[in-house]
Amino acid sequence: MTVEQTPIDSLTELEAAEELGLLTRELARHDELYHGQDKPEISDADYDALKRRAEEIENRFPALVGENSPSKKVGAAPSGAFQQITHAKPMLSLDNTFSDDDVRDFVHSVYRFLGQLPDNQIAFTAEPKIDGLSMSLRYEKGKLVTAATRGDGTTGENVTANIRTISEIPQALSGDVPDVVEVRGEVYMARSDFQALNAEMAAQGKQLYVNPRNTASGSLRQLDAKITASRKLRFFAYAWGDMSAMPSDTQLGMVEAFREWGFPVNPLMKRLDSIEALIEHYHAIEHARADLDYDIDGVVYKVDRLDLQGRLGFRSRSPRWATAHKFPAEQAFTRLTGIDIQVGRTGALTPVARLVPITVGGVVVTNATLHNEDYIRGIGQSGQPLREGRDIRVGDQVIVQRAGDVIPQIIDVVLDARPETSVPYSFPTTCPVCGSHAVRDVNEKTGKVDSVRRCTGGFVCRAQAVEHLKHFVSRNAYDIEGLGTKQVDFFFESDDPSLMIRTAADIFTLEARQSASMTKLENIDGFGRVSVRKLYDAINSRRSIALHRFIFALGIRHVGETTAKLLARSYGSYENFAASMTAAGSFHGDAWNELNAIDGIGEVVARAIVEFYTEPRNLGVLGELLKEVTPEPAEAPVVSDSPVAGKTVVFTGTLVRMTRDEAKAMAERLGAKVAGSVSKKTDLLVAGPGAGSKLVKAAELGVETTDEDGWFTLIGA
Ligand code: IVH
Repeated sequence: MTVEQTPIDSLTELEAAEELGLLTRELARHDELYHGQDKPEISDADYDALKRRAEEIENRFPALVGENSPSKKVGAAPSGAFQQITHAKPMLSLDNTFSDDDVRDFVHSVYRFLGQLPDNQIAFTAEPKIDGLSMSLRYEKGKLVTAATRGDGTTGENVTANIRTISEIPQALSGDVPDVVEVRGEVYMARSDFQALNAEMAAQGKQLYVNPRNTASGSLRQLDAKITASRKLRFFAYAWGDMSAMPSDTQLGMVEAFREWGFPVNPLMKRLDSIEALIEHYHAIEHARADLDYDIDGVVYKVDRLDLQGRLGFRSRSPRWATAHKFPAEQAFTRLTGIDIQVGRTGALTPVARLVPITVGGVVVTNATLHNEDYIRGIGQSGQPLREGRDIRVGDQVIVQRAGDVIPQIIDVVLDARPETSVPYSFPTTCPVCGSHAVRDVNEKTGKVDSVRRCTGGFVCRAQAVEHLKHFVSRNAYDIEGLGTKQVDFFFESDDPSLMIRTAADIFTLEARQSASMTKLENIDGFGRVSVRKLYDAINSRRSIALHRFIFALGIRHVGETTAKLLARSYGSYENFAASMTAAGSFHGDAWNELNAIDGIGEVVARAIVEFYTEPRNLGVLGELLKEVTPEPAEAPVVSDSPVAGKTVVFTGTLVRMTRDEAKAMAERLGAKVAGSVSKKTDLLVAGPGAGSKLVKAAELGVETTDEDGWFTLIGA
């Protein structure tokens, strides 16, 4: 999609409401086209983009979430975008308990119900409550046949295709299994995988995901299973639905059977037989929480014996034999001792709170984000008061909150405890590192002021320069072993001409400068003779590098790994890429149109790339770098004998035999390039019913046109 969107941060609540209304209607229309009429007008990826935009708006403006909201369809009734599945046995929820006393009440109620005295005869299991999405997996004769979300508990969504992409979930069960098995459990995203995904989003200048749970849910509810496959999702089995035979007569035994059949089960599950032991295990899990690679929000207790579970039965929606003991919200009071301003690679000035160290949910917190200057002043994204307008001052007693993996934040201040001498914080208007002006840009489209203040110093700014270098050597860019952030800081700070690294080119001249110098790196603390040799080898091995890595390493705003790959594939060689970007400098003409025609590159990104190539300082640095390194041409299409290899193809209109994404993947597999719009460079337009302006343009330019069947004939499928 090449439609330019206003950054969510720049939307007023009114605009957000308007856009959300539009999106809701559009999504409903596409749902009807897809399911009701089987005539989708847009690709699955475009549908998901609309959906994601709606979700992002709702995340930012929770007050706008209404009855018909697209996200409501997620948890409650099935969205209509997936087939519905009626659960053979309903999927229930759990009652919550919040204190040790509540737990005692729960255990006593179980004994009371069963008419037994509380003398520790009834065993319970205790296990973490995973913060993910519950899933019901149905196996027949040991083979996975369907996977359904919980939905409203009675009917869920058929997400089988997506679930099949999760490697932790067995497609076939091992051992001797009953004919019908419904295993239930939680699909989740590991914190580490979530962080890696967000790092990639940040590198692409995209909006970050809020938390692993929502991300897992969004990933699973993609209509295109390929998108699910690209996200790493995981699973814990802890419950069951329909079973033709029972492998055990206890809760723990059932979970043990699941493990033997090939499911991941949670290692912290225990069978215990006293209230004290349950509470003790709760605290042990609470303690372990911070070190787990997945989010949990409490501990679930279940009666272990299944016959007793059967006797206890259910209250309307939840079993009498289980309860969830929730963790308290992770908040704590501490004192704000200072506010530092960090300058990032793009010049963004981020205020960081320095705190008297405090343990929040098992983790010692010394820093927290303060987001931006408006946040400190008590002003929200759309100008509305935050914290009833209370500002945050150095010296204040503050409430720190740690939610899952999100960076700790200051959510409020205690006005009563404010020192009399305190003064409002004044946010710098110059860069604390280089002294250049720091400004808040005005969004050209909306006329809104950006909430982020940025240093205008560019390369002059040491902070931006050093962050650029760190990006250059990072894992998905040059990935130079032995040149991590610590070493970059060291070389950057050095004043010795034989040691300093200020731009990327300096990395590659280091060895030569060193060999001519008296100050030897190997004599410096932290660098031995062997490690220096290894460093030079690592640097030299990168003198030739894949084009997409090279482009990504340049650190052009909005150009993440995915975009870099698109550019590399589209332009083939660095020379071609650079010449085209220079030619596009006026923001019109063939080169500019060609860039915008690349499927997946929008105008904001295109502009950022072209602007990068108009900045003389960038060109200087690039020139120096290219004396040292050679970007390799992007790999030639593998299938050179296919009739469309090397051709530029555009798909338009409705495709019946395949989704747009599938068509695109197929064309690319055959060595073709897929563009989003028709230009002189287009070789073939594949037009389905409903094709409009692209068909006209192709006729004007004399571009060959065919329909979907013609495409299949052409490629011999
Ligand atoms: S047992 C009949 N065990 O919590 C009870 N649920 O609030 C079935 N959950 O919808 C659920 N971890 O998505 C159970 N170890 C665990 C769980 C767990 C997370 C979720 C599950 C359920 C919700 C209930």
